Amino acid sequence: MKNPASFKLLKGKKALVTGIANDQSIAWGCAKAFDALGAELAITYRDEKTKRFVDPLLSEIKPAIYLPMNVEQPGDLEGVFEAIERKWGKLDIVLHSIAFAPKQDLQGRVVDCSKDGFLKAMELSCWSFIRMAKLAEPLMKDGGTLFTMTYYGSQLVVENYNIMGPVKAALECATRYVAAELGPKGIRAHAISPGPLKTRAASGISDFDELLKKAESKAPTHSLVSIDDVGLAVAFLALDGAKLMTGDTIYIDGGYHIID
Ligand SMILES: NC(=O)c1ccc[n+]([C@@H]2O[C@H](COP(=O)([O-])OP(=O)(O)OC[C@H]3O[C@@H](n4cnc5c(N)ncnc54)[C@H](O)[C@@H]3O)[C@@H](O)[C@H]2O)c1
Repeated sequence: MKNPASFKLLKGKKALVTGIANDQSIAWGCAKAFDALGAELAITYRDEKTKRFVDPLLSEIKPAIYLPMNVEQPGDLEGVFEAIERKWGKLDIVLHSIAFAPKQDLQGRVVDCSKDGFLKAMELSCWSFIRMAKLAEPLMKDGGTLFTMTYYGSQLVVENYNIMGPVKAALECATRYVAAELGPKGIRAHAISPGPLKTRAASGISDFDELLKKAESKAPTHSLVSIDDVGLAVAFLALDGAKLMTGDTIYIDGGYHIID
C-alpha cells in the first residue's frame, strides 16, 4: 500500500504551528504530520532558551517562517501574523499548543489558587487562542482550520489536574464560540483532547506517571497516545474532506473518555 503521506494532501496549505518546546512536544508531532502531507510551515518558539531545543529539529521540516513568540509579550502575536501576511498573504491552518499555570497554583487545590495565577493561566492558555483566531480571520481567505489542545480534566475532576481543569473547560467553550462565529467564513475550530503524554508541560503535574498508568489500563485500546498519533489525526482534520467538522472537543485517547 502506498504511504498516505506520499499523497501530499495538504500541498499548497500554509500552517502556523506554535508550542514546540522540544522533540516531545505535541506541536512537534503536528508539525511533522503537516510537513509530511505537503503543507508549508511557520514555526514559533517562546524564547531563546526554547530556541536551543527547537533549532536542531528544523533540518527535518525547513519552515518558511521561524520567529519568537511569547504570548505574554505585547505585540509578539501580532508580529507573527504580520510576518505571515507579508510572506504568504494567506493562512490555512493554525495550531495553538500553548498552556501555562504558575507552579504553586497548578499544584494546589482549585479553591486555594491565587487570582493572579488563575488570570495568568487563563491568559496564556485560553485568551491566546481567542486572540490567534482573531488575527487568523482576515488571513484565512479561503477558509481554514484552527486547533487548540485540551485535556479530559476539563470534563471531570482528574486528580492533580487542578486549576487547568477550569481553564481547559473555558478553552473548549471558547472553541465552540469561535467555530460558530467564524463558521460562515469557512473557518473551523477544534479542541483536540489527547490522552496523557510525557512532555515538559506534563512534568508540572504531580504524580503524572499514575495518570499514564491509569490511561493505559482503562482505555479500550490499552495503549498510550504518541505525538505522531495526535499529529496525524490533526492533519486529517485539516483536510478539505473534513470541512464540515467543527466546534467539537475531539478525543485522541484510545477511547479512555467513554469508559466509566
Ligand atoms: N502532555 C499531555 O499529557 C497533554 C494532554 C492533553 C493536552 N495537552 C496540552 O497540549 C498543549 C501542549 O503541551 P505539551 O504537552 O506538548 O507540552 P510542551 O511543554 O511541549 O508544550 C507547551 C508549550 O507551551 C509553550 N508556552 C508556554 N508559555 C508560553 C508563552 N508565554 N508564550 C508562548 N508559548 C508558551 C511552551 O514554550 C511549550 O512550547 C498544552 O495546551 C497542554 O495543556 C497536553
